[in-house]
Amino acid sequence: MRDDLMRLKENTLQALSDLKDMDELNKLRVKILGKKGELTQILRGMARLSPEERPVIGKMANEIKDELESKFSEKMQLIKKAVQEQKMQQEFIDVTIPTKPSIGSKHPLTLVLDEIRDIFIGLGYEVVEGPEIELDYYNFEALNTPADHPARDLQDTFYITENILLRTQTSPVQVRTMENKKPPLKIIAPGRVFRSDTVDATHSPMFHQVEGLAVGEGFTMGDLKGTLVKFVQEMFGHDRKARFRPHFFPFTEPSAEMDISCIVCSGKGCRICSYTGWLEILGCGMVHPNVFRYVGLDPEKVNGFAFGMGVERIAMLKYGINDLRLFFENDVRFLKQF
Ligand code: DAH
Repeated sequence: MRDDLMRLKENTLQALSDLKDMDELNKLRVKILGKKGELTQILRGMARLSPEERPVIGKMANEIKDELESKFSEKMQLIKKAVQEQKMQQEFIDVTIPTKPSIGSKHPLTLVLDEIRDIFIGLGYEVVEGPEIELDYYNFEALNTPADHPARDLQDTFYITENILLRTQTSPVQVRTMENKKPPLKIIAPGRVFRSDTVDATHSPMFHQVEGLAVGEGFTMGDLKGTLVKFVQEMFGHDRKARFRPHFFPFTEPSAEMDISCIVCSGKGCRICSYTGWLEILGCGMVHPNVFRYVGLDPEKVNGFAFGMGVERIAMLKYGINDLRLFFENDVRFLKQF
């Protein structure tokens, strides 16, 4: 029996040293030390031993059992460690390998807005902002747009309450500015505007405008023209032509729309400019006396001009983009071209 025990020990230690796998280790443990394992089998023979031998063999069996137990757990630790090391090898990342970082680019609308800002700052304008959730008073009433004016149509305007709406234009910033700042003043006001339009290639319920306002004494339509022609040339190149067409806006008088010579055909006529040779890019005019009255300025003493442009439209013309939706889908393949 003594020999059986010694053999069991030697064989087990041998088997154990060859093992590399947790499953096999567990199997071996059950096979040797389990309830029905080989050690138990051998110990069954104790009954046949003499009373003197029994405690000696019993002690030996216990020692072997203890030794094997500790060898098993030693081996278990080793396997665990090896598995972990292997895992770490596989997941190893050499952070010192030089990589080329992919640098993002500015959104085309941000690029155009930055450029518009820079041009007008260069002309002495200050950049201000107004709220997107606006009072009807600022969006319409104080801009000389009476209650029955078609621009107030529920179909175009997102109303929040009877008096509160999402601004449909950046023009309310004109009024807010004149309430807070005495002339002379020259400001531009970039920002988001909202209209209840169905999305298509040229419409979006949210888009961006830049408002402009200059107030002082003795301004003429010539100042307005000079400023906006300068803007067009900076934005679209110095051989770009501009023209002004009479138009109507409630808050300017006289009012005009400005066109630039077509970006695509330079005036010859093509599909983009509907064969007119011209593209409309903004609305403008001399500030209406009633607007001055709303902010407590005397239209006999001050005057000025104003303008408003759509940023998406300018970006589309500048970069030759034919679908407004591209600005808001944010497909990286589109954005990384700028
Ligand atoms: N607010 C006008 C619009 O959204 C654009 C505009 C026209 C602004 C004439 C002006 C202006 O300041 O003078 O269509």
